[in-house]
Amino acid sequence: MITAAVLTALWAMLPAYIPNNVAVLAGGGRPIDGGRTLGDRRLLGDGKTWRGAVAGALAGVAVAVVLNRLAPAATGALGVPMPTFPPGAMIGLAAGAVLGDIGASFLKRRTGRERGAAFPGVDQLDFVVGALLVTTVFAHEWVRDVFTLGVVVAVVVITPVLHVGTNALAYGLGLKDEPW
Ligand code: CTP
Ligand code: MG
Repeated sequence: MITAAVLTALWAMLPAYIPNNVAVLAGGGRPIDGGRTLGDRRLLGDGKTWRGAVAGALAGVAVAVVLNRLAPAATGALGVPMPTFPPGAMIGLAAGAVLGDIGASFLKRRTGRERGAAFPGVDQLDFVVGALLVTTVFAHEWVRDVFTLGVVVAVVVITPVLHVGTNALAYGLGLKDEPW
């Protein structure tokens, strides 16, 4: 039961896990806020760029397309039904993860945190909240069917662990300026 929930959580969230990591690799260039400020702080900051957001979202959709092709084989190999992603879930998970990260930067700037500052809790789950909210708008029946209580609990427990791990790795490899 627990294994099934964890496997489903990892599979169903993969299109949301990829975008912000791709944004780190592909990001740079024009900031989304165009340098604009709100009060005496940047709206979002130089860490949120168009290139990172678009490349990240496209990568998330691409991952969902690949998972859809792998689903039958994965289901057979794991003995647990791995869901396929309808178009609304592909776009919702990928774009929602990017929007969640952008929303967190907005909150960070409003709470006086400079670019790159840690915001414990928010940094680890912003993209989960964004992904699930936007996916619920585009594919609510899919969310209801896939994200049972056990799967939601698995997501909330596993995601921060994965996030801390991948960011420490990206920092260690010199891809990221801070380890969070
Ligand atoms: N990145 C990007 N575009 C995005 C998201 C991320 O270009 N939409 C790139 C930026 O180079 C950014 C890096 O990925 O610096 C790390 O992302 P993140 O930690 O989310 O940004 P921070 O620089 O820490 O900025 P913030 O404090 O606003 O989160
Ligand atoms: Mg950061």
